[in-house]
Amino acid sequence: MCDKCKGKFYITTPIYYPSDRLHIGHAYCTVATDTMARYKRMQGYDVMFLTGTDEHGQKIEDKAKEAGVTPQQFVDNIVTGDRGVLDLWKLMNISNDRFIRTTDDYHVEAIQKIFRKMYENGDIYKGAYKGKYCKPCESFWTESQLVDGKCPDCGREVEDAEEEAYFFRLSKYAGRVQDLLENTDFLEPRSRVNEMVNNFIKPGLEDLCVSRTSFSWGVPVDFDPGHVVYVWIDALFNYMTALGYMNDKYDDVEKFWPADVHFIGKEIVRFHAIIWPAMLMSMGLPLPKKVFGTGWLLLDGGKMSKSKGNVVDPYILSERFGVDALRFFLLRSFPFGSDGNFSNELLISTINVDLANDLGNLVSRTVAMAQKYFGEHLPAQQQGDLEKDAELVGMIENLRKAYEEQMEKYAFQNALAEIFKVISRANKYIDENAPWVLAKSEENKPRLARVLYNLLEAVRVCGGLLTPFMPDTAAEIAKRLGGAAMDWDSLGQYGLLSPEVATVAGPALFPRIDMDKELAELEALNKPAAPQEDPLPEPLPEIAFDEFAKVEMTVVKVLTCEKVKKSEKLLKFTLDDGTKEPRQILSGIAKFYAPEELVGKTLVAVTNLAPRKMMGQLSCGMLLSAERGDKLNLVMLDDKVPAGSRLV
Ligand code: MSP
Repeated sequence: MCDKCKGKFYITTPIYYPSDRLHIGHAYCTVATDTMARYKRMQGYDVMFLTGTDEHGQKIEDKAKEAGVTPQQFVDNIVTGDRGVLDLWKLMNISNDRFIRTTDDYHVEAIQKIFRKMYENGDIYKGAYKGKYCKPCESFWTESQLVDGKCPDCGREVEDAEEEAYFFRLSKYAGRVQDLLENTDFLEPRSRVNEMVNNFIKPGLEDLCVSRTSFSWGVPVDFDPGHVVYVWIDALFNYMTALGYMNDKYDDVEKFWPADVHFIGKEIVRFHAIIWPAMLMSMGLPLPKKVFGTGWLLLDGGKMSKSKGNVVDPYILSERFGVDALRFFLLRSFPFGSDGNFSNELLISTINVDLANDLGNLVSRTVAMAQKYFGEHLPAQQQGDLEKDAELVGMIENLRKAYEEQMEKYAFQNALAEIFKVISRANKYIDENAPWVLAKSEENKPRLARVLYNLLEAVRVCGGLLTPFMPDTAAEIAKRLGGAAMDWDSLGQYGLLSPEVATVAGPALFPRIDMDKELAELEALNKPAAPQEDPLPEPLPEIAFDEFAKVEMTVVKVLTCEKVKKSEKLLKFTLDDGTKEPRQILSGIAKFYAPEELVGKTLVAVTNLAPRKMMGQLSCGMLLSAERGDKLNLVMLDDKVPAGSRLV
């Protein structure tokens, strides 16, 4: 460890399940984890911040099948494809040190070894699984755990399941896990402890089914072909395999395990606070120091989902409002452990009030006044006023401590509130000291210089402590203060800015957003785009009636229809054209119709076209169809129209 390091800090965020595109709720926990990781780095910790994707399971297998691709292609598209998970984390300034995909070879091999080890130590055994399965949640439930017969997590229907399966002796660890939850600070917020103990442990913890045979998209159990490892075992151990546990890819287990904290969403607390410690106990491994269950972002009081449209698309929100504003909003608006109601109104008003008005105005007014009254830099000669300055200066001096107290409790909202108390106080200080009045007399210049200096110090310390939340904004603030020091040590002290600080002007940090206009635009964005009409074909030159009359168009009935061998395009028809002789026509429409659906249909053919050969077969005429863009429809008539009728 380096001399200056305070120690190590290992923090994780849930690895995303890429069955669909992410919504803003998914970004919530990752932004919080990133903020905590940046905060710890700023303090001098050697940080490991892990995130990734959890790519196995039946739902992904099903979705891939629906999309007509392999499960690997399906997840690759969502994870590494355009505007995928990796692109989003980059856009949102997520500073993860490592990214694990559970389809990575090293992880798969490690999971096989882990499964085998628990089998060999007797904690995994073979049995038959009978119970209820919630497919969307990939969760097994016992009858007693269901709520009104439905999945207790998502409220959806569960299905009966019975198959040969391996089981993990979860019941064996019930006592130790209960003790861990009740008598240590392992799980926070504390309110989640009762929920776990009363709902899951006290009713009797049953052994957990940890393999499946009814689908194959998972880590194969290497000693029993046909079984794949239950997706949650595969997923939970990512926290260790990504450090190199049971693999040679990395070598950081000793340095970083046990994790300092797993940040997770509330619905997956059960897996992290009961199953995860029990499995670690079985493997004889140290337990993570803490699991913190966050609340959910709700939309209109209900569950958020990508199907609710663009309002929850983190790409669109980042592009419209800026990444820093979005990051800030997520952590400023809701207490981290509780649910919060997401709305565009709240997002816009938070940006307008906190960022444009309070922070943005403080920065721009202060820098503008420093430049207006003193030009390039403040004068060294400054005059304090104990009575007038004490409160603001005291708040600046104490801010880091108050902020740290909240950050250590993962109370992001409160930490930001501490910063904004100082920002408000500083704005009030401007009004109290009225720099524009002081500027009127030369004699007051030293006092004016100190007033501005104090404001710049407030900006420096507040801006610096905002770094983990809004890294780009903090860097911009440092630039406006002439490259002011914003390292952790200097943020704990007032007076570190050079008295002769040179400021740099710039545009508003957060321009005010017109609420009504923005809401209208967002709403318009949310409406599904009108289907694009294919362009009309170019008109043809005029022809005389005589020329048209030369074309013989005859009603025909399809007697047989089949694909032409070795041709992807051609269908071969035999047609009743009203004569005794069946007519053969080849038509390049195999892409649009299956042969069997056309038999018996009444169509129109041009019957006086010179015959020609296609793929070695004779075509006597042409079937009429209507084409627009890449769509094609055969001209079909009512079946009452007799074969051989002429179109005129
Ligand atoms: N793959 C599992 C996690 C395995 S960790 C070993 C998983 N993935 S997920 O994609 O479904 O969810 C990822 C995270 O997003 C979870 O923490 C989940 O709680 C969180 N959220 C999903 N929707 C959310 C909101 N609407 N609001 C806040 N967080 C929510 O679970």
